[in-house]
Amino acid sequence: MSAIAAWRLVRQDLQVTDLDEVLGIEQAAYAHPWTRGNFIDSIAAGHTVWGLREPLSGELLAYLVAQRVLDECHLLNLTVARAHWGRGLGSDFLQTLHAQERAQGVTQMFLEVRLSNDRAIALYQRLGYRDVGLRKGYYPDGDNAREDARVMRLDWGTLA
Ligand SMILES: CC(C)(COP(=O)(O)OP(=O)(O)OC[C@H]1O[C@@H](n2cnc3c(N)ncnc32)[C@H](O)[C@@H]1OP(=O)(O)O)[C@@H](O)C(=O)NCCC(=O)NCCS
Repeated sequence: MSAIAAWRLVRQDLQVTDLDEVLGIEQAAYAHPWTRGNFIDSIAAGHTVWGLREPLSGELLAYLVAQRVLDECHLLNLTVARAHWGRGLGSDFLQTLHAQERAQGVTQMFLEVRLSNDRAIALYQRLGYRDVGLRKGYYPDGDNAREDARVMRLDWGTLA
């Protein structure tokens, strides 16, 4: 059973009214977090913007943002609140997105991830993502510095 099912977590489409909670998690998770405007733009654009909540307390545990373009889906943000890492939530949440996207005809997932983000890279590799490129200086990294991004793809056409 997935962690999401085992804990009876509630998945929902996030709204602008959820963004105070989202930004609290986002700002704790990243040195260079998304802004409120980034999330508002994603909601307005009709991207998949999902939250995962505890059923009783309603606490927001995780969220993701993904953009579908024809038969490709780009994972733009996947974040689990720090206190809930290692419960399998990131992995299960992403697999829930995969199931939706595959059911709607998507054949490939794409994402960018910082070279230094070992934890996220391990998760993506475990789910079948492979490197397809490097974007030099993709992420801000402190005073005038930039960090490269690994571009990773999950191609369902090449998986058994
Ligand atoms: C990356 C992130 C989404 C993972 O969420 P999570 O709920 O902790 O992930 P899971 O519990 O499903 O899986 C974690 C996996 O990471 C790997 N992992 C765990 N600890 C690790 C470590 N210290 N170093 C490297 N990899 C590690 C393992 O493969 C682990 O799976 P396992 O426990 O089943 O063996 C979460 O850490 C997070 O939100 N990080 C901050 C935001 C972020 O970097 N998002 C990704 C941007 S591209």
